Amino acid sequence: MWLYVAALVGLYLLQRWYRERQMVENLTEKYAFITGCDSGFGNQLARQLDAQGLRVLAACLTPEGAEQLEKVTSDQLKTTLLDVTSTESVAAATEWVKTCVGNKAMWLYLAALVGLYLLRRWYRERQMGENLTEKYAFITGCDTGFGNQLARQLDARGLRVLAACLTPEGAEQLEKRTSDRLKTTLLDVTSTESVAAATEWVKTCVGNKGLWGLINNAGTANPTAPNEWLTKKDFVSVLDVNLLGLIDVTLHMLPFVRKAKGRVVNMSSVLGRLSFIGGGYPISKYGLAPDIQESYGQKFLKMYCKMMQHSKTYSGKNLRLVTDRIEHALTSRHPRARYSAGWDAKLLFLPASYWPSWVVDWLFLVFLYVTAHTS
Ligand SMILES: NC(=O)c1ccc[n+]([C@@H]2O[C@H](COP(=O)([O-])OP(=O)(O)OC[C@H]3O[C@@H](n4cnc5c(N)ncnc54)[C@H](OP(=O)(O)O)[C@@H]3O)[C@@H](O)[C@H]2O)c1
Ligand SMILES: *[C@@H]1O[C@H](CO)[C@@H](O)[C@H](O)[C@H]1NC(C)=O
Ligand SMILES: *[C@@H]1O[C@H](CO)[C@@H](O)[C@H](O)[C@H]1NC(C)=O
Ligand SMILES: *[C@@H]1O[C@H](CO)[C@@H](O)[C@H](O)[C@H]1NC(C)=O
Repeated sequence: MWLYVAALVGLYLLQRWYRERQMVENLTEKYAFITGCDSGFGNQLARQLDAQGLRVLAACLTPEGAEQLEKVTSDQLKTTLLDVTSTESVAAATEWVKTCVGNKAMWLYLAALVGLYLLRRWYRERQMGENLTEKYAFITGCDTGFGNQLARQLDARGLRVLAACLTPEGAEQLEKRTSDRLKTTLLDVTSTESVAAATEWVKTCVGNKGLWGLINNAGTANPTAPNEWLTKKDFVSVLDVNLLGLIDVTLHMLPFVRKAKGRVVNMSSVLGRLSFIGGGYPISKYGLAPDIQESYGQKFLKMYCKMMQHSKTYSGKNLRLVTDRIEHALTSRHPRARYSAGWDAKLLFLPASYWPSWVVDWLFLVFLYVTAHTS
């Protein structure tokens, strides 16, 4: 009987010893708040737990006590002042503890939320629409640039592309490089007769299937120069294509788009957010009053021409950056309402549109100067 009791007690002690030496995981990520750390047990405990790697939040009654403790402990240990008899002091220490322990959890939580959001977006956006090969897409300005690239891309993807070109040569070239399914027509978006004719053509092409995609791509940056060098007519000629032309085409095609429950893609530009001068053609193309030209100086004229050439080669570099986004807008089951193409737009131009104007103006001057002297 005594042996039996001794064995039981022995077993109990063994089990207790075994259980109690199992340490909590991730101790170095845990916070411990200790009151009365100026001296005695509290002081010793704070130093001990700090040495173990715990994140110690040590409350002292006096500033001297806190100071002394900080001297003999690691940077991880933080101190505050606390008189436990004062409710205000306790409340202040509580707030302090909250900011100490809360932040980490909050950042983790935020990061997890952002991660989940990105994952969900990625998953949704890669779901493709059905029956793409039966869908019609009408694209304006297919002679060159984005429109041309997009027409070829969607054609290769199997969509039925209706490509509008400004010139017969453009249309001919495009037909040579694409399948028989792609059809072309001529369209000058500034002429309402031309738009009406293209509308009739689209109507006969799509029949009762309707238009799945209307891509308003046609646009021009020409003429471009410092505003002082331009006339009202110069502005009107650009607005006629890029704004009124787009609206006219949209109004004409909308009934077909509605029928197919389709999508409209408008080509915008970072220049709509930041109006530094960009775009195409050397200014030598148009006349300039000699006295105004002089006030800018020959050097400016040269710099400006160089920058224009530079931005032309630069913007033409990778058309797919843009056309892949448009393709997504037309083929994904969950398209975005707005796309920005390229890291320069995402990380520089769009954020810059929220910076103070004087910063952007200054950066633009630097950019003008640098491109003029390097290219
Ligand atoms: N390139 C960039 O970095 C950039 C940046 C932001 C936005 N965008 C926009 O993207 C779109 C395409 O630009 P892109 O760089 O591809 O320029 P692009 O190569 O000049 O293409 C524009 C197309 O529109 C056609 N077009 C011009 N006037 C027209 C009219 N009145 N009616 C019908 N078509 C007309 C042009 O025909 P022709 O070639 O026969 O003249 C050309 O095929 C434009 O809306 C532009 O504003 C471009
Ligand atoms: C310890 O930390 C690791 C990594 O941060 C985590 O995966 C694990 O779940 C944590 N364990 C406990 C008990 O919190
Ligand atoms: C795809 O086409 C098939 C056969 O024509 C049709 O039954 C189906 O409803 C179509 N799906 C969609 C989403 O239009
Ligand atoms: C495109 O522009 C037209 C005409 O201004 C407008 O009605 C339409 O809402 C725009 N679509 C998008 C997707 O921005």
